[in-house]
Amino acid sequence: MSSSNTLFPLGGPVDENDIVGREDFLKSIQARLADGQSIMLTGPRRIGKTSLALETLRRLKKEGCYVASVDFFRVSTKRELATAIIDACLENRTGIRRTMDALMGGIKTVTNATKLAMKLQGLEFSFSFPDKETSDDLLFSYALDLPQKLAVVDKKQMVVVLDEFQDAARIVGDGVFKLMRSHFQVQNKANYLFLGSKEGLMNNIFAGSDQAFYRFATILPLPPISLAAWLDYIKKKFEDRGICCNEQTIQEIIKISGGHPQDTMLVCSEIYYLLLETGERCLSLEAVQLGTQRALASLTPVFDGILDELGPAKRILIRLVQEASLYERGTHPNEIKRMIDMLINKGILEKMERGTYNFVEPLLKDYLLKVI
Ligand SMILES: Nc1ncnc2c1ncn2[C@@H]1O[C@H](COP(=O)(O)OP(=O)(O)OP(=O)(O)O)[C@@H](O)[C@H]1O
Ligand SMILES: [Mg+2]
Repeated sequence: MSSSNTLFPLGGPVDENDIVGREDFLKSIQARLADGQSIMLTGPRRIGKTSLALETLRRLKKEGCYVASVDFFRVSTKRELATAIIDACLENRTGIRRTMDALMGGIKTVTNATKLAMKLQGLEFSFSFPDKETSDDLLFSYALDLPQKLAVVDKKQMVVVLDEFQDAARIVGDGVFKLMRSHFQVQNKANYLFLGSKEGLMNNIFAGSDQAFYRFATILPLPPISLAAWLDYIKKKFEDRGICCNEQTIQEIIKISGGHPQDTMLVCSEIYYLLLETGERCLSLEAVQLGTQRALASLTPVFDGILDELGPAKRILIRLVQEASLYERGTHPNEIKRMIDMLINKGILEKMERGTYNFVEPLLKDYLLKVI
């Protein structure tokens, strides 16, 4: 988690105090999960999915639930995934993060080994507790059953977050969703919060009628952060550091970033460091402009990377920035439509009412304006 010393935290999941404008949403997912519902939450990169999920788990844990969280981005083999799930589940009992390592010979003294074994009582399956000899398939199957097993034995409810869930196919192969579903669907004491940043894939897994997870979880749209919430937060943050600011100037920041979670944080952060350097104690429009330039400079490699990956669809973005018609001579309208869908799927554009398209990150639009 980002250190709370940073005024405007960036990069990874943030803690409760820096989750802006999501209190109602947090309450809603917490209540649904506590009630045993499974949820799917998807959205573009960097809009705060993981922050929300981890905060929800902290709250559920306080309520007495067992919780576990696994990030599929961090694992690359079936065995690692199984181990990550088992570790996350068993932490509720053992209080340590890597129970599996400890079991596999990482414990120095007999006393500690005995203590650990006692903490794991009642969790063996048809085979002895998993060890080095256990096959990958058996270990994975054990992992998928463990949330329910643990919940039943300990008379708890278990809530499991599976982050970047769409990556299961990369790690285990295409059959994995069917396999997981067959384990999860009989679990009445464990429920799941599925997260993913690849919206197209996630929607396909959970809304495709021929897919294993079809209607298994409630799909919740993540609402945008309100202007009022950003205003309060940014004002409070600057004032905490003795920097005076008026509402209009803050509104300008939000206009530039479009209220996009990480971009807004980034622009604010760059402005803050600029003020530190110059010794100014008041937020001016000029500082906002300069801070934005710095934010754009730091985003250059990110945006270049995104644009490079797009191939011909980059033209669509350029035409959008130039406010030109998206349909062009010599390209079949179906092809244009396909490229627009791809840009929406990648979380670069969003479709607005009346068939117009917006940039999910207004800063990307500014960047394009600068470089074309
Ligand atoms: N509600 C929020 N309020 C303020 N900032 C936020 C919020 N949500 C996200 N951010 C900003 O976005 C960054 C990324 O947050 P987080 O990792 O939770 O997003 P994510 O959607 O899981 O991203 P990824 O696609 O990279 O997994 C945070 O470090 C923070 O700067
Ligand atoms: Mg995330």
